[in-house]
Amino acid sequence: MAVRSEIDPQNIPAHVAVIMDGNGRWAKQKGGLRIFGHQSAITAVRETVEAAAELGVRYLTLYAFSTENWSRPAHEVMALMQLLVHTIRQETPTLLKNSIRLQAIGQTESLPASCQRELAEAMELTKDGNRMTLVLALSYSGRWDLTQAARRMAADAAAGKLRPEEVQESTVAQYLTTAGMPDPELLIRTSGEQRISNFLLWQLAYTELYITDLLWPDFRRTHFEEAVKAYQRRERRFGKTSEQLTVS
Ligand code: IPE
Ligand code: IPE
Ligand code: MG
Repeated sequence: MAVRSEIDPQNIPAHVAVIMDGNGRWAKQKGGLRIFGHQSAITAVRETVEAAAELGVRYLTLYAFSTENWSRPAHEVMALMQLLVHTIRQETPTLLKNSIRLQAIGQTESLPASCQRELAEAMELTKDGNRMTLVLALSYSGRWDLTQAARRMAADAAAGKLRPEEVQESTVAQYLTTAGMPDPELLIRTSGEQRISNFLLWQLAYTELYITDLLWPDFRRTHFEEAVKAYQRRERRFGKTSEQLTVS
């Protein structure tokens, strides 16, 4: 509560993206298997969703599984997929109750059929949620997103539906899987790693980065609030000088 009272309700980021990292290391520290870390991460997800919705964040994008994560040992990938199905099933009633709409970005066709079914069902059930949109990045990578956008733009140009000379930055944005969402103002990454790991490459162009050494399973609502508080202390200059910002 203490942190929350220090947050300016007029300056809440509309879109927060999170790289939920460190489950494996968390489990190792506890002498457990990596999957124990993934299982223990659900509380962190739940608290982050709640904290974001309560603060008035409009879009929360969670990096749950990257294109590169397919290269992990098959048993870990399978366990993650099972956990995904189980968690979506378990959490959908809470999302519904709180008017939270679930969406997914990524190459979801590559997910096991059970995951695709569960996702589709939960997205359909929650589609009228208007308090916050929870976006799961699944089998997602920034380069994949840009590539699928380029492919579809090329197809539309070839079909005469898109004139190359009229392609603007806003056109590219419309072909990305995040079309219609504001760019994230804040990116949180846990576990201390200082990299983007092929997340929202285009969309993070001017995002404020907040990296914490906490491992994801230890992340709680107060840590989310700390990140928003830190964001509010940043000066977002977008290439201008500090003086320009205070004058206008
Ligand atoms: C993040 O934790 C979860 C996924 C990438 C699915 P990790 O599994 O990457 O945990 P570390 O980085 O090995 O500790
Ligand atoms: C990034 O974490 C992907 C997700 C959180 C889903 P990784 O653990 O896969 O990232 P790297 O490989 O260490 O950069
Ligand atoms: Mg990791």
